[in-house]
Formats: sequence, structure tokens, C-alpha cells
Amino acid sequence: MMKSLFGGCFILLLLLAHNVESRRHDDDRRRGHDDDDSSYTLFVFGDAAADNGNFPNAGLNQGSRSWYYPYGISDKDNDNLPSGRFSDNMVQSDFLGKILGYDESPPPYAAYKPGRRSNRIDPSGMNFANSSAGVWWVEPRIRDQVVQFRSLIADGAITKRDLEDSVALVAFSGRDYSRISDADTDSSLQDLGVSKVLVNTVPPLGCTPWTTSRFSSYDYCDQRTNRISDVHNKYLTDKLGNKDGVLLLDVNTIVTSLLQSSQFQDHKSRPCCETKDQDGYCGQYAGQTPQFTVCRDPGQYLYWDFLHPTHAGWKAIMQRLQSAIRDFLDI
Ligand SMILES: *[C@@H]1O[C@H](CO)[C@@H](O)[C@H](O)[C@H]1NC(C)=O
Repeated sequence: MMKSLFGGCFILLLLLAHNVESRRHDDDRRRGHDDDDSSYTLFVFGDAAADNGNFPNAGLNQGSRSWYYPYGISDKDNDNLPSGRFSDNMVQSDFLGKILGYDESPPPYAAYKPGRRSNRIDPSGMNFANSSAGVWWVEPRIRDQVVQFRSLIADGAITKRDLEDSVALVAFSGRDYSRISDADTDSSLQDLGVSKVLVNTVPPLGCTPWTTSRFSSYDYCDQRTNRISDVHNKYLTDKLGNKDGVLLLDVNTIVTSLLQSSQFQDHKSRPCCETKDQDGYCGQYAGQTPQFTVCRDPGQYLYWDFLHPTHAGWKAIMQRLQSAIRDFLDI
């Protein structure tokens, strides 16, 4: 476990950070764009914290559940329909998109179709995050995400200019993060070339409904499981805490304090979408009979399903990070 914890993901991050240093943002050039908030292009890597539709809909099952009711039920702009996000509405990448001046996350890679006249990506950037199966025991394939990114650079769909004023979000929310073991094999990550990198700390894994329901009916976090996050985050902070061009987003500390906040303290780790069977999933049916219940007001819950935050949860997290992100990006 420890070996994989300290394995490839750090090499990935270090390569990202290395690259940031070697292509440090040129403040003078940047000043020329200052009147336009949206001049940053956003590239998103990660898991269900940030995925906005990259995991394919393969029929209702645990992995594809984000394409089915009740996912998306709070998304009024989209007729309350699911969009492949593991939330009742928005996820972290959407809130970051808003901070950069967009309506939501840049479009998912899965929706990219090179046009006849131009193969250029959407000006807001692209989201490569893939929830894999949306369950934490399945390894996410960040390497695949980087390969996709690189191939778009090679094709000219993403230009040097896009990269010069770009932000990357590296968003892993689950135990997934500690299991990325193949990233170091791709030394070509050095070509990534983004100018600013935001990296989440791992949230307190012992506070997810999946863990708490097994130990304490949602009221108390499991400290032993939380130590997995703590050890990981300490290492992350040691390596990246003071790197130029890298900002650590301390999702861990914020989630811990939000669980005690007036907004969420009534329900603590209880998920809005609760399953009857601990090993079932939000959205599961047995014949016509739902095997889950959905709360009346997702706005009062930090967790949406047994692993993932609600729209309100992500909103609260990103509100607490917003000024640090703005300072860091000079917007
Ligand atoms: C996301 O991951 C799944 C499982 O590994 C894969 O089948 C799918 O093609 C990926 N999505 C994209 C857009 O690459």
C-alpha cells in the first residue's frame, strides 16, 4: 500500500511541476490579457471529482450510474437530467470553470469531434477526467488521459498558445489516487506544458459514507482510514507545497471542517442518495423497485452518494478555495 501510495502519481505531479518551472508563466505577457477573465484555458485530469461525461454509458450499473436518475436531479439548466457527473448537478471542474469565467467545466474529451474546417478544441479547454468505474477499487487511468491530451497537442487541436495561458486541475477524490501506478512509465508527460497546476489533496477517506456507514452510522469518521489520506497528503505537501506554478487545494481540511459546519452538520456523512444495501449503489433497481432513497434537499448534504459530494458540497468546498485560486492565477 505505502509503495503504491508513494508511487507513480508523485512522479506525474513532479513532472507537471518540473514543467511548470521550466515554462514559468510570463507575467508581462500575461498582463496583456488581463482584461479578459476567460483567457485561461482549462485542462482537467482526474476521477469522478471532475469527470463531466467521459465514462461511457454502458447501461445502468455501478460504473455508469452517473448517466441515470437520480444523478443530475438538481441540474435545472439541463431539465434535471443526468450528464455523466457523479453529483446531483455540478462537480469540482464546473466550479473551477466558473472561477475562470466560464459557465461550467470545459467539454469532455468524449464529446470531441474534429470539424471539417478546424480540429481545434473548445476555447475553454477540455476535460479528460474519467471516473473509471466510479468506485474506488478500480484503478483510474490517468495515463490514458495524458495520452489523449498529448495526441491533441500533436494534432494541433491544442496549440502552444492554448498551453501558455492554461491551468490544469489534477483532481482525484478517492482511494483511487493512491493506486495510480503506471504514470511514471510515461516520461513524455514532460511535454504537458501547462502554465499553472492546481492539485487537490485527498479528502478524508474515513469520512465518506461508504466508510462511516460501516463503523458509525455516518456520525463519526474512521480515523484509521483517514490516516491513509493524511500520510498521502503530507507527502504531497512536502513535494509540492512550495513549488512555483503549483497550488495545492486542501480539499481534505475543508471537507473535515465542512462536516461540522452549520450547513451540513445535521447529516454529517449521510449521503443524500442512500442505498438499502451497503454494497448497492445510488440509482440501483431491483425490477421496478428502487434500492435507494433520495433526500428532499440535497443542498443540506455534503455527500451525494456513498463516495461523492453533492453540488452543494463542491460549491462550499470551492467557495473556500476561490480567493486562493484567484490570487494564484492573478484574476
Ligand atoms: C473512460 O474510462 C473507461 C474505462 O477505462 C473507458 O472505457 C473510456 O473509453 C474512457 N473514456 C474516454 C473518453 O476515454
